[in-house]
Amino acid sequence: MLYIGVDLGTSAVKLLLMDGEGVIQKIVSREYPLSFPHAGWSEQKPEDWWKQTLEGIKELTAECDKSQVAGISFGGQMHGLVILDKDDQVIRPAILWNDGRTGRETDYLNNVVGKEKLSQYTANIAFAGFTAPKILWVKENEPENFARIEKIMLPKDYIAYRLSGTHCSDVSDASGMLLMDVENKCWSKEMIEICGIREEQLPKLFESYETVGTLKPEIAVELGIPETCKIVAGAGDNAAAAVGTGTVGDGMCNISLGTSGTIFISSKDFGVDKNNALHAFAHADGHYHLMGCMLSAASCNKWWMDEIIGTKEYGQEQAKIEKLGENNVFFLPYLMGERSPHNNPNARGTFIGMTMDTTRADLTQAVLEGVAFAIRDSFEVAKSLGVQIERTKICGGGAKSSLWKKMIANILNIKVDVIESEEGPALGGAMLAAVANGEFASVEDAAAKIVKVVDTVEPDPELAAKYDEKYKKFAKIYPSVKDLFSELI
Ligand code: XUL
Repeated sequence: MLYIGVDLGTSAVKLLLMDGEGVIQKIVSREYPLSFPHAGWSEQKPEDWWKQTLEGIKELTAECDKSQVAGISFGGQMHGLVILDKDDQVIRPAILWNDGRTGRETDYLNNVVGKEKLSQYTANIAFAGFTAPKILWVKENEPENFARIEKIMLPKDYIAYRLSGTHCSDVSDASGMLLMDVENKCWSKEMIEICGIREEQLPKLFESYETVGTLKPEIAVELGIPETCKIVAGAGDNAAAAVGTGTVGDGMCNISLGTSGTIFISSKDFGVDKNNALHAFAHADGHYHLMGCMLSAASCNKWWMDEIIGTKEYGQEQAKIEKLGENNVFFLPYLMGERSPHNNPNARGTFIGMTMDTTRADLTQAVLEGVAFAIRDSFEVAKSLGVQIERTKICGGGAKSSLWKKMIANILNIKVDVIESEEGPALGGAMLAAVANGEFASVEDAAAKIVKVVDTVEPDPELAAKYDEKYKKFAKIYPSVKDLFSELI
């Protein structure tokens, strides 16, 4: 049988076709626009996601025997607010995970409702990109839209809804709404009340590997895929990426260098970071995970290359970087504010330390290192909780750069395992569909059989020691400029 994994990302939807043995048959990708209507805001049209996903499935399956497509599942950009009215029309553009407009609502939740209560209800505190503060923002700023809300859903759940007609979500993605009691995997009555919504407006919750329905007859006809094709709940993109990199079970780590940058630590047991700097979410394997998320990772490099120095030759630029561990220029990668661990939507990108002999290569290096240092910030929080991490998997667009992998290995001083396919969320989605259809006994079984490590980047003790000194300097910059950021906005 064949399985489709849909990675509904921020810049594009990536679709992957996998057979029942876990062999990837084809990958296609389709872009859609991202709009920033005000500084710090970030929106997309769910209709664009849908059109491109549908066209993408057609392209993906153009040469295969479509009668064999037995399941479709997802990894989706997390936290985005999608609201539908009683006629199933999208009420307003989706407010995305990297949108920072909810400063007031986040403050209200953290300081008036209180972090302790939020953590007790949901295992997490409020971050600007989470879904609950966005609901409060719509309630306050667009009351006429708020009054029309019939259904609330996350980005990938909109696609599952259009494909199957089931209003559903999965526990990994729903964990990031700040509406779910993560430990017990059910909606929090308290949060529902705080947000002024009704439970019927929220989707039905599933484990990521559970079937939510089958293809709607008219969609099956349009795609030429059997009506019996299962639509499987899927996961938030980080949990799906963790499945796709074999980061399942206990104590495994994955770093994703995509538009966002995340460090994801799987755990068999439920656990919370007592300071809530890391998110405590459910995992797609039926267990839990801790995660730190930075809002701009590979996107910092893309911004620097495409917008600022104006080149598409990323490899050529990186080839000019020679002095690893010796750069005196630092970059704070907060181009969209920052989530973990600072929780500050007002934080901004910052270069510091330039002199007259600073080169373009030094700045490129500072951007790549700044992202790795910021990942280390979350890594340090995990270590302070007693989590032991000696090695990590890596995925996302940034993982294609050997230089960046070397920086990560040395800045975190851990081994970086490179896997055969960096397709993370799309592969994870296809694997979840295969598990739901009985090809594998469990998500862990699928990961053990499908995911292969092909190389390991080892840290070099001398370079790791140099980077350790650099990290100590990096860690002093944010506290020194933090107060200024609020004056700059
Ligand atoms: C995770 C997060 C991002 C998005 C990116 O909490 O906000 O990684 O899921 O798509």
